[in-house]
Amino acid sequence: MLVKNQEIDVVIESVGSDAQGIARVDGFVVFVPFAIKGETVKVHIIKTTKNYAVGKIIALIKPSKERVNVPCPVYGKCGGCALQHCSYQEALKVKKQIVKDAIHKIGGFYDQEVNDVVGSNYCYGYRNKASFPLFVNNDGDLEVCMFRGLSHDPIYINDCHITMTHINIIAEIFKNFVNKVYSLEQKNKLKHLVVRYIDGKALVTIVSQEKPIKFDNLFDLMMKALGINENMLGLFWCKKSKDNNVILEGEITHLLGIRNILTEFMGISVEVSPLSFFQINIDIMQKIYKEVVQGVKEGQVVVDAYSGAGLLSALISKKAKSVYGIEIVPEATKNANSLKKQNNIDNLVNINGDVSQELPKLVEKIGKDFTLVLDPPRKGVDERVINTILGVLPKNILYVSCNPASLARDLKMICKGGYKIEEIIPFDMFPQTAHIESFVKLSKM
Ligand SMILES: C[S@@+](CC[C@H](N)C(=O)[O-])C[C@H]1O[C@@H](n2cnc3c(N)ncnc32)[C@H](O)[C@@H]1O
Repeated sequence: MLVKNQEIDVVIESVGSDAQGIARVDGFVVFVPFAIKGETVKVHIIKTTKNYAVGKIIALIKPSKERVNVPCPVYGKCGGCALQHCSYQEALKVKKQIVKDAIHKIGGFYDQEVNDVVGSNYCYGYRNKASFPLFVNNDGDLEVCMFRGLSHDPIYINDCHITMTHINIIAEIFKNFVNKVYSLEQKNKLKHLVVRYIDGKALVTIVSQEKPIKFDNLFDLMMKALGINENMLGLFWCKKSKDNNVILEGEITHLLGIRNILTEFMGISVEVSPLSFFQINIDIMQKIYKEVVQGVKEGQVVVDAYSGAGLLSALISKKAKSVYGIEIVPEATKNANSLKKQNNIDNLVNINGDVSQELPKLVEKIGKDFTLVLDPPRKGVDERVINTILGVLPKNILYVSCNPASLARDLKMICKGGYKIEEIIPFDMFPQTAHIESFVKLSKM
């Protein structure tokens, strides 16, 4: 029986859903974060429960040859990355296993194959968006932060290695500016800094209880540091009035510069605003979108549920007879409509609303002969939506997911209702983290 504070050597046998190592001591499970399968490590038991224990590595007795040096100084403290200690090839293996385990154990598809993970061309510096929590330290200085794993404790950072350099530069400029110009009381009103950087243009949103002061000076400093002009930078204030963990909610005021990023991907002009969803790894985004478009047959009617700012719907519209995008965030639907206009697309209808309410209404109008694309948020597809799908039984379903657990749960329900999985392809949208995106092709049996 393991007890807290015990030190023990363990052999890592497998990986868990958060990419942590798993060892067994007399049949009892020990989770060991930052350990690699096959390693022998000495751990300090920091937690025990009825069903498992958690061990912290204190020495590598027999390290894996896949272990690499970690570039980030806050690795292990910050909750963002879980796999920097692994070679990239090993990290991809771990992620494949995470998807497989979810599909087998949660979905119950014990014989289902999962393809190798499609890797990202950029393993660091790939994130085109970051939301930094802001805190004031004991000396009264503002710090740009990340959160400690599984908590809301701040970790002070200088830069985030998986985030694009330009975003780190903006965060640094912001911190230095605030520390020079703001009073302590003003600093305490600052909550988050959200930065998006796409195609050489940046959107910066200051989330604060009070309107930022001297923002025109800050705007100038940011332009200078990035070597860009006012047509390439937008500054916003999101008024934080509620005391909760939601980052961007409530009123967003445009302060200076551009309101949207106008850019082009895969032959489509795109508009991205501070609020609209946009995939954070552009290399992988393009690889997944290609796969989804390939899954659509020429001349089909397609419903793109959870359609965001509409880029995927627009790409599908080149091949489909008609496309209906459904998206809940009004700002994103607005972006999707201007994308439709800019690209002269006439076979796309963007519907603003909740998929669970809009899909049944849409089916009444267009009938049952369509391909359904699902790209829901982490919590997966609402049960009401699954019931609608199973009432309608569209020919094909193309499911893009950023959460293997909710994906597996949804696939179980969908397949019980008369579908079979054709293929599961994981994509490494979030290198160095334990997160993984998957694409699943389903057909009606
Ligand atoms: C993972 S994103 C996918 C967006 C888009 N397919 C893309 O690739 O950019 C999920 C989207 O679903 C939207 N969403 C979340 N819940 C929704 C709901 N109940 N009904 C409609 N859209 C929803 C979010 O606002 C977000 O834009």
